[in-house]
Amino acid sequence: MAGLVDGKVALVTGAGSGIGRATALEFARQGARVVAADIVSEAAEETAQQIRDAGGEAKSIYVDVTDEDTVRSMVDFTVAEYGRLDCAHNNAGILGPLSDIVDYPREEYDRVLAVNVTGVWLCLQAELRQMLLQDSPEGGHSIVNTASVAGLVSNPAIPAYSMSKYAVIGITTSAAKIYGPRGIRVNAVCPGMIETPMSQPFRADPDAPSTTRSRQAIDRSGQPEDVARLVVWLSSAAASFVTGTPVRVDGGAMA
Ligand code: NAI
Repeated sequence: MAGLVDGKVALVTGAGSGIGRATALEFARQGARVVAADIVSEAAEETAQQIRDAGGEAKSIYVDVTDEDTVRSMVDFTVAEYGRLDCAHNNAGILGPLSDIVDYPREEYDRVLAVNVTGVWLCLQAELRQMLLQDSPEGGHSIVNTASVAGLVSNPAIPAYSMSKYAVIGITTSAAKIYGPRGIRVNAVCPGMIETPMSQPFRADPDAPSTTRSRQAIDRSGQPEDVARLVVWLSSAAASFVTGTPVRVDGGAMA
């Protein structure tokens, strides 16, 4: 059976864990050749190995999304290995502390903004530069940024994180407008509570104010694969008229 992204080349950041790993695996299941990138090299390689074990094609590479040189190397590596870059998922992110604004440590604020905002910016920039050199594939080139429902409705438990995800949606819509006419679609996914290492502090504390689980219309925990399937669909020709939009995948929590 034909896959959604047969023959395409996909790059995923934060691919060593959670949502990024699930997306890398789903891209491969749907026919893409995949580069799995993460700041934890062994974890990225483990993802690539899982893809190869399942019969797919994948490589891994180290990236620190806050470091422009490694971001450029990641895109260059993708092109050197697989000849082009069709789909990118800018997914690496960190939560930072659960703290209100007045007590929020400055270093933690800088780190959250560096990874979640500057990291997405640098990846977007390097990916766009490469995509603009290429012929547009069927359905257009695709970039999907991982935002959050916290980028649509503020989450007072994690103010810097929430702010960073509003910024991700902001740059997603700008990039979509600027590069749509040149064959590049840019969208964001907004997961609700998804069972990954990152959401552990919330899942461990059912009274945490951000617990979206209790508001969900669908009574089960969100899984990384729920997000992965959306990302790959957005990256496929099936979504050729979809750009500049944040798409919720939250079991209806924000409905
Ligand atoms: P995770 O903690 O399981 O995975 C994040 C991955 O990003 C890790 O492999 C980590 O090593 C990597 N990473 C962190 N800093 C990096 C850097 N500077 N450069 C490269 N890689 C780096 O977390 P999860 O849940 O899979 O999160 C993925 C994305 O989804 C994040 O952007 C997060 O904000 C977002 N998200 C997660 C939700 C959840 O409930 N789990 C809800 C909404 C959004």
